[in-house]
Amino acid sequence: MIEYSEDLKFWLNLTDMTKLGGLAPEQNKKIADLILDEKPNIVLETGVFAGSSTVTILEALKQLNNGILYSIDDMSLIKKFTCCYITEDLKSRWIFIKDKSQHYLSSLKDDFIIDIFLHDSEHTYDNMRFEYFWAMEHVKSNGWVVSHDTHDNKAWDDFCEKIKCSIVDSFKIHSLAGVKVKK
Ligand SMILES: C[S@@+](CC[C@H](N)C(=O)[O-])C[C@H]1O[C@@H](n2cnc3c(N)ncnc32)[C@H](O)[C@@H]1O
Repeated sequence: MIEYSEDLKFWLNLTDMTKLGGLAPEQNKKIADLILDEKPNIVLETGVFAGSSTVTILEALKQLNNGILYSIDDMSLIKKFTCCYITEDLKSRWIFIKDKSQHYLSSLKDDFIIDIFLHDSEHTYDNMRFEYFWAMEHVKSNGWVVSHDTHDNKAWDDFCEKIKCSIVDSFKIHSLAGVKVKK
């Protein structure tokens, strides 16, 4: 049974940002559980918008008193960054990069290793495919590659089919899916 801090419990009960393209409450809870279980050092997400997934990850890292979140967003959907929920106490664990995900991810060195990857930026086949295979290269062994909006096209299913020999665990909550990969 996973225990949540008061702040994380408050946040998980507060949020339903699905109308803003954010994760649904039960999907946010899954992300929180994953972070609390895995105790990651580095989490990387693409797509911030209203900050639903971002705050969930940062609150869970704060509870663990460990880890950093990289968030990449080109701010194409919102011209002004408006997430008021990313409070000062969360920002010390947060690195925000304003860029196209493909451009920024391509600039990272081969030895940049992450524990958990979450895709929630541009849901085109090519971009999702690019991000999943980038994540596969950069996630540690027994790390997680996770994606929102996996129903939008075949990119997630094609990715899972290609890497099926490496999958050691998985989950699916509606359009949110994740695979744990052994390398
Ligand atoms: C669905 S929203 C993210 C929702 C967020 N994960 C949440 O749970 O609230 C998608 C975000 O991706 C950003 N975006 C779209 N295309 C992008 C790209 N090619 N690279 C980086 N960010 C992108 C948009 O600016 C938008 O903020």
